[in-house]
Amino acid sequence: MDFKNIDTQGYINENISPDINVVDEINKLRKEKNAVILAHFYQRPEIQDIADFIGDSLKLAQEAAKTDADIILFAGVHFMAETAKILSPQKKVLLPDLNAGCSLADSAPYKEFKKFKESYPNHVVVSYVNTTAELKTLTDIVCTSSNAKKIIDSIPKNKEIIFAPDKNLGTYINQITGRNMLLWDGACHVHSEFSIDRIEQLKKENPDALLIAHPECKKELLFIADHVGSTSSLLNFVKKSNKDKFIVATESGILHQMRKSEPRKTFIAAPPEDTKCACNDCEYMKMNTLEKLYLTLKYEKPEIILSNDLINNAKKPIIRMLELS
Ligand code: 13P
Ligand code: SF4
Repeated sequence: MDFKNIDTQGYINENISPDINVVDEINKLRKEKNAVILAHFYQRPEIQDIADFIGDSLKLAQEAAKTDADIILFAGVHFMAETAKILSPQKKVLLPDLNAGCSLADSAPYKEFKKFKESYPNHVVVSYVNTTAELKTLTDIVCTSSNAKKIIDSIPKNKEIIFAPDKNLGTYINQITGRNMLLWDGACHVHSEFSIDRIEQLKKENPDALLIAHPECKKELLFIADHVGSTSSLLNFVKKSNKDKFIVATESGILHQMRKSEPRKTFIAAPPEDTKCACNDCEYMKMNTLEKLYLTLKYEKPEIILSNDLINNAKKPIIRMLELS
């Protein structure tokens, strides 16, 4: 096994014999190594099905903070695995593919944001968890889409706030809290790509369907949605609703849990602007495969490595969020 491959490719590239049952091997290895598998709702269905915990960003951070496993295998993207490492620095945190980034986290580079923040020295900085560990060191309180309103409401009304990096979530939170937060101009490429025209058409064709949307979508889409919420909020909504049909405007991975939990209901993935591409799939989330999970557990690589200084400074705003959640 040539580990140099990991540096150049970001994942372990090894042919797996067709005689190997990857799921059986993962099960064997996770027991032997006392590993826990955390998976986000946007992961491939077959990964969600073998995870110890599936959830939204908040739930996965909470699980990472309290697990007694020796290894956390994170089936998600880089900022999520980083958050797990920050909360459980003594544990080995593995990410099957280091290329699994996030366009939203990338939209707030450290240097530019630091400069911006210096222009508003009295503002409180609230950052979405979809940021790099470095950016979290410039942050007072982290939030996720499921607790953003609560976090903002906890800040005294006379305090001005910078909200980063998602302008769509920020605009939505401004609207529901009556605040006037200063918004960083970032966005998620998946959630910004939904087509209002095609969704309006779908609504016409399915007048009995409710439109549900993640707050990372554009404000024009949120305006016509029947329910707006984090991935877990969308899932809970379809479980509790007495309606049978939903147009779902978020990454398509969540449909797996919706269909599993409500097999008699109908779920339609909201279409993107570009008819040729499946932009409602996050290519970063979909970089993880069962094969990569198996090789990662086997070799305990790629591992998330962060300096102690970075961990200590990025931890404070995450702990403030967990205390307020
Ligand atoms: P949730 O916290 O709602 O799961 O969102 C995570 C994410 O990456 C959305 O794009
Ligand atoms: Fe990032 Fe968007 Fe992918 Fe979520 S869906 S991980 S915000 S790029």
